[in-house]
Amino acid sequence: MSKPLKIAIAGLGTVGAGTVKLLHEQRELILRRAGRAIQVTAVSARDKSKDRGVDLSGMRWFDDPVALANEADADVVVELIGGADGAARRTVEAALAKARHVVTANKALLAHHGTTLARAAEAKGLTLAFEASVAGGIPIVKALREGLAGNRITRLYGILNGTCNYILTTMRKTGRAFGDVLTEAQKLGYAEADPSFDIDGIDAAHKLAVLTSLAFGRAVDFAGVHVEGIRHVSALDIEYAAELGYRIKLLGIARQTDHGIEQRVHPCMVPLETPIAHVEGVFNAVVAEGDFVGQTVFEGRGAGAGPTASAVVSDLIDIARGRSTATFGVPAGDLASEPTAAMERHVGPYYVRFMVVDQPGVVADIAAALRDERVSLEAVLQRARSPDEGVPLVLTTHNAEEAAMRRAISRIETLKSVIEPPRMIRIESL
Ligand SMILES: NC(=O)c1ccc[n+]([C@@H]2O[C@H](COP(=O)([O-])OP(=O)(O)OC[C@H]3O[C@@H](n4cnc5c(N)ncnc54)[C@H](OP(=O)(O)O)[C@@H]3O)[C@@H](O)[C@H]2O)c1
Repeated sequence: MSKPLKIAIAGLGTVGAGTVKLLHEQRELILRRAGRAIQVTAVSARDKSKDRGVDLSGMRWFDDPVALANEADADVVVELIGGADGAARRTVEAALAKARHVVTANKALLAHHGTTLARAAEAKGLTLAFEASVAGGIPIVKALREGLAGNRITRLYGILNGTCNYILTTMRKTGRAFGDVLTEAQKLGYAEADPSFDIDGIDAAHKLAVLTSLAFGRAVDFAGVHVEGIRHVSALDIEYAAELGYRIKLLGIARQTDHGIEQRVHPCMVPLETPIAHVEGVFNAVVAEGDFVGQTVFEGRGAGAGPTASAVVSDLIDIARGRSTATFGVPAGDLASEPTAAMERHVGPYYVRFMVVDQPGVVADIAAALRDERVSLEAVLQRARSPDEGVPLVLTTHNAEEAAMRRAISRIETLKSVIEPPRMIRIESL
């Protein structure tokens, strides 16, 4: 039997403790699959006295994760601290400098520094593995990098944030308002005390930037991702979506267009008959479309100790077996660096809801602003009639250019009869 793969784990929170637990409970199975034992020799976290519900005996303790990366007796450093910079980044850089492989679950780090870190790892023949960083337990990194490697990926999209999907699902099922459901999600532990990374779409954008790099063989470009969160999705829009045959989902979408690769995260109306419309609650899903394979759909738990540890350990087994590929599927030096397509050039159908004073001529004024921008209407919905109060007026359009939609909406917003900021949600033809 070969000698054990020695690993040092920096960060013993949800994922770190989950990884220690999985490695312990599945050691016989891992031994067979990896061909050798995977042994945790050292760990690091801030508070040594905290009970983490796992047995840390025999593991050397470090208060400082960078010291762990430098000094631990380990072939691999597993970074499970989090954050784009700070301790996590210093730990990964120190580990690579010391010629140790790195496994991380940190999408923020990869979104901001992925290409640079991949170059550093590859220059030394080291592995930088990150299956756990996107969609938790779903093996989407391996699927794109290895399983679908014979395909040109034409489009990739997914529900990449379980917190947002939980909130949107609950809003739809209960008819409750966003703020109310968010507060409940925080109480249940599905949303952080500071939820902005999740609900403003940043976490999903980090993951999308990583997936785009893998799927399209280009340098990670987080700054190029167009990001909108779910704060402005209302129970009313969810109701209208249902009436029109859609569900509202926060999607991350990367697509090859004539103007380059689009990368966007925003609420979308997705047709009810598509698989992604039925991915509910905290679940994640990724759909990848390849020129030879067609459509592939992956669904599973995107977070939590068990699913995320499952992904971390799959990377460790690869390293133990000596299986390695270029970090993002092609060598980091060969990743293309063309800019992301501008959102203004996006073309697709739109849903827009205006709150208007129900007076004669309102619909004509709105239709004129759209017509002047060559936006053609598909449907107009106006349910209630109430001359004294605002009433919703809902329009859906045929394919239109984003820039034209934005110009038309800015003009409509200035009409006296429009009494609230309009709400625009893109309709995705999936
Ligand atoms: N939670 C999930 O379901 C999930 C899913 C996919 C990916 N991820 C990613 O996995 C990583 C870890 O997430 P998590 O949920 O496990 O986080 P967490 O529960 O907050 O744990 C973070 C750990 O890092 C330690 N730590 C924080 N700052 C440190 C510092 N400056 N120096 C040393 N140690 C430090 C903490 O120490 P103390 O315990 O002593 O405070 C804690 O053990 C993140 O990159 C996250 O995005 C998480």
